[in-house]
Amino acid sequence: MNRFDGKTAVVTGAGSGIGRASALRFAEEGANVVVADVAEESGRETVELVEEVGGDATFVTVDVSDLSSVERMVEVAVETYGGLDLAHNNAGILTDFVEVSDITEADWDRLLDVNLKGVWACMKAELPVMNEQGSGAIVNTASEAGLVGMGGLGSYSASKHGVVGLTKTAALENASRGVRVNAIAPGPTKTNIQSGLGGGPGDASSIALLDRLRTAVRLLRIAVRTLRADFDTSAMRDVPMDRIADPEEMAGAVAFLCSDDASYVTGHTIPVDGGQAA
Ligand code: NAI
Repeated sequence: MNRFDGKTAVVTGAGSGIGRASALRFAEEGANVVVADVAEESGRETVELVEEVGGDATFVTVDVSDLSSVERMVEVAVETYGGLDLAHNNAGILTDFVEVSDITEADWDRLLDVNLKGVWACMKAELPVMNEQGSGAIVNTASEAGLVGMGGLGSYSASKHGVVGLTKTAALENASRGVRVNAIAPGPTKTNIQSGLGGGPGDASSIALLDRLRTAVRLLRIAVRTLRADFDTSAMRDVPMDRIADPEEMAGAVAFLCSDDASYVTGHTIPVDGGQAA
């Protein structure tokens, strides 16, 4: 008997990194998985990986910053598998390292739209289904930058602090209805965001087309800015466990929070960070 046998899970940002690991973990533990991502090719790759471990997955294209797109994602889950039990609202993007006074309005809007509005839109679509069932568990992906400030990451940090607050509020509102809402705050994790490959403030086509060139430029720019920075980026580097996390270590925490092992846990953001926030 697996922990998630007969359950249906939706994972946003499941085409890559933490979301992919989470989709695989849900499938390995018995859940049907709706793999949702703005990037279709990598999302479909995740579906193939889920099928390789014997799971059942369905891909849906979603832009989490667009409420109607998110509503469609939840409809697909319900139409395909008959309900929605677990949700990992995880899609997110990172920005270049710039001081607050240098953030452009367009970059601010795009980042907040994906990282904060996206989590709200997901919960807005998921909660009515779970409330009607009288059960469900949601995990949002925040960040260490949602717990402490990080020089150069003003919009990102603001968005992730927002996710922490939204998680608490949604948890309080739904606690008596059998629906739990928590978050994880990952420390640095080996994914495209960390390598500079993904997570720019772009749309689906830019993610697909500009990857290679942008990677080189972004890495160089981050390296130069970090070297020159007179703001404190040390929180990014000081991990007591002296290593970066694997995405599977985030998926383990998500699975715990979604499972009955966490049946009395709601409203909390769990740092999964090698001791960084301790
Ligand atoms: P990633 O870049 O590997 O994966 C992000 C996924 O989200 C990609 O598949 C991308 O296509 C998708 N995505 C981007 N914009 C989207 C949109 N508008 N709608 C739907 N999907 C979209 O990065 P990673 O690291 O797996 O990121 C997952 C989450 O973890 C993000 O919320 C990120 O902020 C958070 N996080 C990551 C950390 C790290 O060190 N990797 C540390 C702390 C938090």
